[in-house]
Amino acid sequence: MRTVSRGGGLSKAALTLTVLALWATAPALADIPRAPHGAADMDYQKQRLAELRGGADPTALPAFVDRRMWAYLVPDDNALNAERIALGQALYFDTRLSRDGSVACATCHDVTRGFTDRRPVSEGIDGALGRRNAPTTLNAAFFNTQFWDGRAPSLEEQAKLPVTNPIEMGHPSLDAAIAAIADDPEYRRLFQAAYGRAPNAEDMARAIAAFERTLLFLDAPFDRYLAGDETAISEQAKRGWALFNGKARCVSCHMINSANPIGTDNRFHNIGVSARHQDFDEMVASALEALRDAGLEAVDKLALETDLSELGRFLVTKNPADIGAFKTQQLRNIGITAPYMHDGSMQTLWDVVDHYNRGGEANPFLSGGIEPLNLTESEIDDLVAFLFTLTDVRFAEENRRALEAQMTLAAERRPFRQRELAERRLLPFETLVQEDAR
Ligand code: HEC
Ligand code: HEC
Repeated sequence: MRTVSRGGGLSKAALTLTVLALWATAPALADIPRAPHGAADMDYQKQRLAELRGGADPTALPAFVDRRMWAYLVPDDNALNAERIALGQALYFDTRLSRDGSVACATCHDVTRGFTDRRPVSEGIDGALGRRNAPTTLNAAFFNTQFWDGRAPSLEEQAKLPVTNPIEMGHPSLDAAIAAIADDPEYRRLFQAAYGRAPNAEDMARAIAAFERTLLFLDAPFDRYLAGDETAISEQAKRGWALFNGKARCVSCHMINSANPIGTDNRFHNIGVSARHQDFDEMVASALEALRDAGLEAVDKLALETDLSELGRFLVTKNPADIGAFKTQQLRNIGITAPYMHDGSMQTLWDVVDHYNRGGEANPFLSGGIEPLNLTESEIDDLVAFLFTLTDVRFAEENRRALEAQMTLAAERRPFRQRELAERRLLPFETLVQEDAR
């Protein structure tokens, strides 16, 4: 299609045609029936999930998952079976788990949005905004800890926190959430079948975790390439994979292999995302005060409702080395889970690579692994092309659309691009010290 003429640019008619053509090929998000807070309708989401599963038995472990590793990840008292998964699925999509009946897990971890909400930070009951970006629930089962700061040790413990967090689902207690569903005969039947007991909070969390352990989406073009299909990814993406392991050093934190399929070291690093707008010293003092004798729910509130959120892993360990450190996020399905980072501050994968290329953002707690990379523009494009090959083939259409949208955005705006820093012509720490001395 030739819409751009040498002299005149894009005519109005041509532009309309181009836009219409894009709508026609893609089942647009705008056409999907809505639930509150901008999420897709819950029944629509369930139907879409069934399509994604394509009739596969959710209790069967996909061939590419290492059985011994899996045995280690699933708690002894919560072995996967069809009844537990069915209960967990019902709960995951049920807005009754929120105080005002408007928010389900699937509101913020939406099947039609890569199991995220595609917002910088999440919106809970009463339209309240949190401080952090919702990561995907796809493959979350592989993490050693849950949340950006790892404050939850398992999927089971994680599932309880949003239900009572005041700005997410807002129930005054887990028992209040159970009370909202316990009289429903369908739930009585489902709980009985799954765990042999009446509805209760511990089994609710177990069932949701069991359901999440079926959200394994690890069949990407990249895997097919590794398995020997040379045509599965482009030459550009292959160069990107080489850079990932070499000059760009991504692999030092995002190692990706069969023992660790999602691309995380399960550790916490300050890569300078928060440093852009924080006074860490001031925050540490207030945090220590607020955390005296505090339990997990208090950390949850600080993380989601206060400026202290930006302290990251420090809120959990109180170790100064963890100030501004966040969990190395997985790279699976990364094409369809924008915006990026714990605060959702980066809109495209070009922004992410630009950030690393300049050596992150200078701050006293910056991880030693973050250094200017001196990547050229075409090397940046190669890395981005590689990252887009990590999306499961079942999301191929969404991935393609996301790539187009990000390309358009990046062509207009690259707010983190800084060649002087990337090439070390400017030294951020020295500059900071000189500014202070002046
Ligand atoms: C209001 C939006 C919202 C709701 C509702 C919500 N979440 Fe989340 N979820 C988030 C945000 C934001 C984070 C990141 C918070 C953090 O790390 O501090 C998160 C993190 C997670 C993680 C951790 C993933 C990772 O990479 O560490 C899992 C798993 C998860 N949520 C599952 C659930 C389940 C299950 C429910 C329902 C019981 C739920 N969420 C309800 C917004 C939400
Ligand atoms: C020192 C360890 C480290 C290195 C090296 C590193 N990362 Fe990361 N990565 C992290 C951490 C930690 C986060 C989350 C940081 C945050 O949100 O504050 C992250 C987040 C990301 C995200 C966003 C994930 C999401 O869902 O929001 C992407 C994409 C990413 N890294 C890609 C890369 C690429 C590409 C490279 C190489 C150029 C790289 N990383 C190098 C530790 C690292």
